[in-house]
Amino acid sequence: MIEKTDFSETNAERIVGPVLTEEDADIEFSLRPKRLSEYIGQENVKSNMSVYIEAARSRGENLDHVLLYGPPGLGKTTLAGIIANEMGSNIKIISGPAIEKPGDLAGLLTGLQDGDVLFVDEIHRLSRQVEEVLYPAMEDYVLDIMIGKGASVQSIRVDLNHFTLVGATTRAGQLTGPLRDRFGIVMRLELYSEKELTEIIQRSAVIMAIPCEKEGAIELARRSRGTPRIANRLLKRVRDFAEVMGDGRITKEMADIALGRLDIDKLGLDSLDRRLLTMIIKGYGGGPVGLETLASALGEESVTLEDVCEPYLMQLGFISRTPRGRCATDLAYKHLGMLREGQQRLD
Ligand code: ADE
Repeated sequence: MIEKTDFSETNAERIVGPVLTEEDADIEFSLRPKRLSEYIGQENVKSNMSVYIEAARSRGENLDHVLLYGPPGLGKTTLAGIIANEMGSNIKIISGPAIEKPGDLAGLLTGLQDGDVLFVDEIHRLSRQVEEVLYPAMEDYVLDIMIGKGASVQSIRVDLNHFTLVGATTRAGQLTGPLRDRFGIVMRLELYSEKELTEIIQRSAVIMAIPCEKEGAIELARRSRGTPRIANRLLKRVRDFAEVMGDGRITKEMADIALGRLDIDKLGLDSLDRRLLTMIIKGYGGGPVGLETLASALGEESVTLEDVCEPYLMQLGFISRTPRGRCATDLAYKHLGMLREGQQRLD
């Protein structure tokens, strides 16, 4: 059984927003690598994961529970699918907020076979009661079910098959300590390099039969904020422009024209990123300014700024986080063509 992920509305309208849309979900599924050897990038994660998988397989055991964390759109669901494939087992996919009651989770867990993978996306959004069902399930493969009420309440223990929980979250810090401690394998996914994204785009172009020149793929990669989900989405949009305005080929020039039309700048920043930087610079003298203050000034959710805009802006070295708040760096001023107070233009 594959259950659909929760399609959060947050930021969904941004072409460079990493939130999964229904359209993405369909192409992501067909583009998704099925084996570790097909998976591009995340070299550390891949090499360690292949050892853990091989060891578990040769012992004939299920894989230890895995926590994957990192910004959205980097391939956490894909990796969970690969883990299941490599272990030769089935996967059930569910989003944390979709498990409303302890009974929902109990139903999922009792349906698992030995070795099955239960993938829980947004695992930090599980309710406390649901989380408590998970502790004995993860640790001892048992469910403690309460029957009756008041003085006559009784606890019945149900044995579960030995499953592997793969949990995904944008930030491991959002998990409660007891839950985090029950994962034997904890892995952080990093933003992808331009070279890795170029390879991913070229692979996707072949699968979708889109003629794409290497220089076109590089231009797309450079402007995909380190995120394969965004790279694949931009590839599809640029294909539309190439088919209508050109000869269908994705060249560097065509990518440049299309991305310009989508308001995505040379480094992949969109209007929200630029509004964020401009607010720090013009509204708060370059910072420091607190996240909540920024969020309300921009009319955005603070989690959007923190999980979506900031990882990439930090990777570019455009903002720094200090204990007193966010600051814009000299690189950010330069990118936006702005000057610090008292600074003179030299060129
Ligand atoms: N498609 C999306 N992410 C990918 C990855 N990491 N490797 C290969 N293809 C992908």
